[in-house]
Amino acid sequence: MSERRITFDGDAMLRLRGVHKTYGRGATAVPALRGVDLDVLAGELVILAGPSGCGKTTLIEIASGVLDADEGSVTVDGIDWRSLDRESKTKRRSELVGFVFQQFNLVPTLRADENVAVPLLIRGVTRRRSLGAAGEALGKVGLAARTTAAPAELSGGMQQRVAIARALVTRPRLLVCDEPTANLDGVSGRSVMELLRASTDGSVDGEQRCVIIVTHDSRIFEYADRIVRMEDGRLTGATAGLAHRHHEEG
Ligand SMILES: Nc1ncnc2c1ncn2[C@@H]1O[C@H](COP(=O)(O)OP(=O)(O)O)[C@@H](O)[C@H]1O
Ligand SMILES: [Mg+2]
Repeated sequence: MSERRITFDGDAMLRLRGVHKTYGRGATAVPALRGVDLDVLAGELVILAGPSGCGKTTLIEIASGVLDADEGSVTVDGIDWRSLDRESKTKRRSELVGFVFQQFNLVPTLRADENVAVPLLIRGVTRRRSLGAAGEALGKVGLAARTTAAPAELSGGMQQRVAIARALVTRPRLLVCDEPTANLDGVSGRSVMELLRASTDGSVDGEQRCVIIVTHDSRIFEYADRIVRMEDGRLTGATAGLAHRHHEEG
């Protein structure tokens, strides 16, 4: 087992303790999380796997401060989401968390670099500087030659790379990815996973971060440090992925 997994309690980049979440109330209440504890370290890529409806999306939305837990605590880089008011939570989320989705969610009328620049423009960074940083981020994901392409001119795998560049352009500590390879063929899926893997350990932008990937796709399990299984609102076990062994043998 890798040395970076054996750390002191204080080192988790993401920590969930006793997290419960129920949608609705009374007769229509749907319990989605029933007591979740999870630590993820900087530099660690965790895959969260489990059947549809088991609570995976709910878990990462709570981890990233999009949804509030009913009970329990969630900290990212030592910051407890509960300690923040609405406005500072939005601001912190934009600093701490990057998001990657199954559908890429690019704005079709914007060029690749304009899409990547959006999080910076929202923060008030000038257009010139935002586009400069966006071009750099696109270079880091292997798309230096396509910065002015429209999303429709790019393959699915390339569009997901643009989305990853957009998620990384703010240098988040936590990257959450919901089924990032579900719309991709095997080859593009693997290349996206290699990029996500590299974004964990600092080889994309020099930053170590934690990456959580929700997936049904067992073909990508080999890219994980750890595969966490979920069932019916609870984590039911974890296994080590192959990623570390590859590094050690390589
Ligand atoms: N906004 C919502 N309102 C009511 N129920 C929801 C909502 N979102 C999710 N659920 C329910 O919560 C449970 C967990 O959903 P979800 O976190 O989306 O699971 P997964 O991502 O593993 O498919 C499911 O039973 C789902 O139907
Ligand atoms: Mg889901």
